[in-house]
This record gives sequence, structure tokens and C-alpha cells, in this order.
Amino acid sequence: MGFKIIAIDGPTGVGKSTIARQLAAKLDCLYVDTGAMFRCLAWSWAAHGCQESDESLEKLGDQTRIVFEHEKVICDDTDVTQEIRTERISAQASKISRFPLIREVMKKQQRSLVEEVRKSSSYRGAVLEGRDIGTVVFPAAEFKFYVDASPEIRAKRRLLQLQERGEGGNYEEILSALRKRDFQDQNRKMAPLKPADDAIIVDTGKLCADEVLKHLLNRVLNEKEVSQSGVQ
Ligand code: DC
Repeated sequence: MGFKIIAIDGPTGVGKSTIARQLAAKLDCLYVDTGAMFRCLAWSWAAHGCQESDESLEKLGDQTRIVFEHEKVICDDTDVTQEIRTERISAQASKISRFPLIREVMKKQQRSLVEEVRKSSSYRGAVLEGRDIGTVVFPAAEFKFYVDASPEIRAKRRLLQLQERGEGGNYEEILSALRKRDFQDQNRKMAPLKPADDAIIVDTGKLCADEVLKHLLNRVLNEKEVSQSGVQ
């Protein structure tokens, strides 16, 4: 297969990262967690006390250095891998992602990251997960998947994850935070979360992680590119 761009969009807590990371490994593709990029900006914002002015936002986007190093996320020379996963940063990332200036900077960075890799021939493609990859960042991606599950299922999974880590949590609180982020992501003016018209919709509520991966792999390996009817 030639260099392929695979977009995986969907709401928070749907398991995009696991799917995208595994798919990228199987296909020898670069994996790009675009949510982590927004999270880094949110972290930097909190660390430096940014203002909501155009000038500050532009500076934040242009000057924050984000590096993916194996499983680690490095922001301005600090390992923020764990820290960017807190509820506080999640909420802040969702909040700042509504600013058009921030979205423009992120789009540019994501495109140039993929272009670099395409030129270097170091990978056979790129798997990008986010909210607007298939609709805005790479509307001509060879494959566009939109993974979804009900808020209740996502909240249950998140609670289980926290319990497994020994952190505990409250189902109602998780569900309400998740709904709030869904609302923010789906209703912002610029690049709201929604499936591309030609995206393959995958309901992960009905499938286990292995089944989802298998399904996506089949689609890609069988070269069934965009404009498919989707999984029912
Ligand atoms: O995927 P995530 O939960 O790590 O993303 C964190 C926030 O970043 C999410 O609430 C919305 C924003 N985001 C976005 O607006 N566009 C993307 N492509 C990825 C994330």
C-alpha cells in the first residue's frame, strides 16, 4: 500500500487512543494523538497563566514545543505524559480548543508532522486520532473512521479504568463531565466534533476492543477507502 492517512475521530472516552495506537503499530504507521497536542497547550496555558487575547493565544500555539517520544509526551522539555490526563487539563483542553487561532496552529502542526514523515519514508502512513481529522485537518484522508459509543457506556468504562488503577471515582460525576465535554466539542463554531459525510461509523458499544481493531484492519487492508456504508 502507498502512504495512507487514516483519520479516527470520535468523542471523549470512546477508546480512540487504544484503537489508533494498535492500528498504527499493525500497519507500520506513525501514530498521532492530536488530543494530546491540545492537552499540551492547555498544560502550558495553566503553567504560564495565558490571557484570552489573540496575541497570547497565537504565542501559546506557536511557542509551545510538543514532542512525542515513544510513549511519552514532552511539552517545553517537561515530561507531561501523566499530568495532561487529569480532569482539570481535560476540561481546559476542551475549553481552549474552541479558539480558532489555536485550531489553526494545531492543524498546521499536524499537517506538517505528516508531511515530514511522508517525505522521509520512515512509515507507511499516519494514523491520527482526534475530533476533526476527517472533517478539517485531512478531509482527503484515504480512510475516515468515526468511533462512537453512548455516554453511559463511556462513563462505565472510564470508571472501570479508574478502579483498576486504584483511583476510584463516581459514575454520575464522570458521566456529567463527559456530557459537558461532548457538548463543548460538538457545539463549538469551528471544527465541531461530527462524523465526516463519508466516514465509516463504528459503534464500539457493541464490540470489544479486539473486534474493533480487527474490523478497522480489514477495512484498510482490503483497501475499502472512504464512502463506505459504515458498520451497523
Ligand atoms: O482526545 P482528547 O480527550 O485527549 O482531547 C482533549 C480535548 O482536545 C478534547 O476535549 C477536544 C480537543 N480536541 C480537539 O478539539 N480536536 C482534536 N483533533 C483533538 C482534541
